[in-house]
Amino acid sequence: MSHKVLVTGGAGYIGSHTVVELLKANFEVIVVDNLCNSSRVALTRVEGIAGGLVRFYECDIRNSNQLLKVFRENKIESVIHFAGLKAVGESVTDPISYYENNVAGTVQLLKVMRQCDVRTLVFSSSATVYGDPASVPVCEGFPRSATNPYGRSKLIVEDILEDLCNSEAGWRVARLRYFNPVGAHASGEIGEDPRGIPNNLLPYIAQVAIGRREYLSVFGGDYPTIDGTGVRDFIHVVDLAKGHLAALNYLGVNEGLLTANLGTGSGVSVLQMVAAFERACGKSISYKVVDRRPGDVAQCWADPSYAKTVLAWEAQCSLDEMCADAWRWQSKNPNGFVI
Ligand code: NAD
Ligand code: WQD
Repeated sequence: MSHKVLVTGGAGYIGSHTVVELLKANFEVIVVDNLCNSSRVALTRVEGIAGGLVRFYECDIRNSNQLLKVFRENKIESVIHFAGLKAVGESVTDPISYYENNVAGTVQLLKVMRQCDVRTLVFSSSATVYGDPASVPVCEGFPRSATNPYGRSKLIVEDILEDLCNSEAGWRVARLRYFNPVGAHASGEIGEDPRGIPNNLLPYIAQVAIGRREYLSVFGGDYPTIDGTGVRDFIHVVDLAKGHLAALNYLGVNEGLLTANLGTGSGVSVLQMVAAFERACGKSISYKVVDRRPGDVAQCWADPSYAKTVLAWEAQCSLDEMCADAWRWQSKNPNGFVI
């Protein structure tokens, strides 16, 4: 009997890559997504890559009647919860949408899960919960803080999940703290497809390489780092996706709450990323060093050893693979999923 998993936000960037891995591992996959930041085409591509079918519901997680219908129509055993908004800058100008989607949406999901007696959940948390870390690498026990409403929405949900696990036996919850997911499936069929001007580094570089943007603005050249630019822990999205299967396996045999970093453990600077992408695409990437972006930290990378110990998972892909796969996706799909 195959295991039935509900993936909220499964049409999105990390969700679609995770659905590929779930189908390949013979899970039955049900996706709920309101398509506010994704395309239905992504799931068609996912089915093509994995050679399996996805049961898709165009549905908002805030709509508990629709969500209940999804649970009633499918014997769901566990949930991977990606659905939410993720643009830091937008969260500052429109905090209500962030608390409504990320916090209230999660509460709706949890209520329906409990009503339907489903108590296994993998939640997309973020390295943003570490705020400006006092040192690197960052361990799970480091103090948490938020510098913007997006980050606060993740902190609040982390706390809700902890309270829930303390309130009642039977919950099996993983809070996975992603570092900086990049890259795309090696087929070049699915990848990150930001709407409007990309907020994140790699999609921006890729759009410069394909000619959609003139140059990259490098936010700050005076950080106390190897070359003055920000340093992050970039992780291949397929490695990240596999971390979710490892978490489901773990929760299959362990009750309670798990919190784990998903990163590579290596820091890469903005300019090192530019150089790696130039190697991958064979073009030079124009850039200008400009002022720091408010709220950015100088450096942040993971200590991933806890995930290795408890989940038997570690990132495999190199920086060059991340860039080669991102470039394959970008060059095969210059306008993303808009055909
Ligand atoms: P994404 O925007 O590509 O995917 C999120 C998906 O959720 C989208 O398909 C969107 O349409 C859907 N969605 C949003 N609100 C919804 C709602 N109310 N009801 C139903 N569907 C809804 O983002 P992603 O990069 O794949 O991120 C997935 C999760 O991982 C998010 O929770 C995000 O905060 C978290 N995360 C992302 C990163 C990153 O850098 N990409 C880092 C750390 C954590
Ligand atoms: C990386 C580096 C920038 C764009 C964000 C969220 C975090 C998480 C991942 C969800 C930084 C520099 C960027 C550009 C640049 N998301 N940069 N020019 O800020 O580490 O993390 O996404 O949870 O919460 O804050 O990622 O890709 O935006 O930036 O110089 O056009 O690239 O200053 O040093 P970040 P990023």
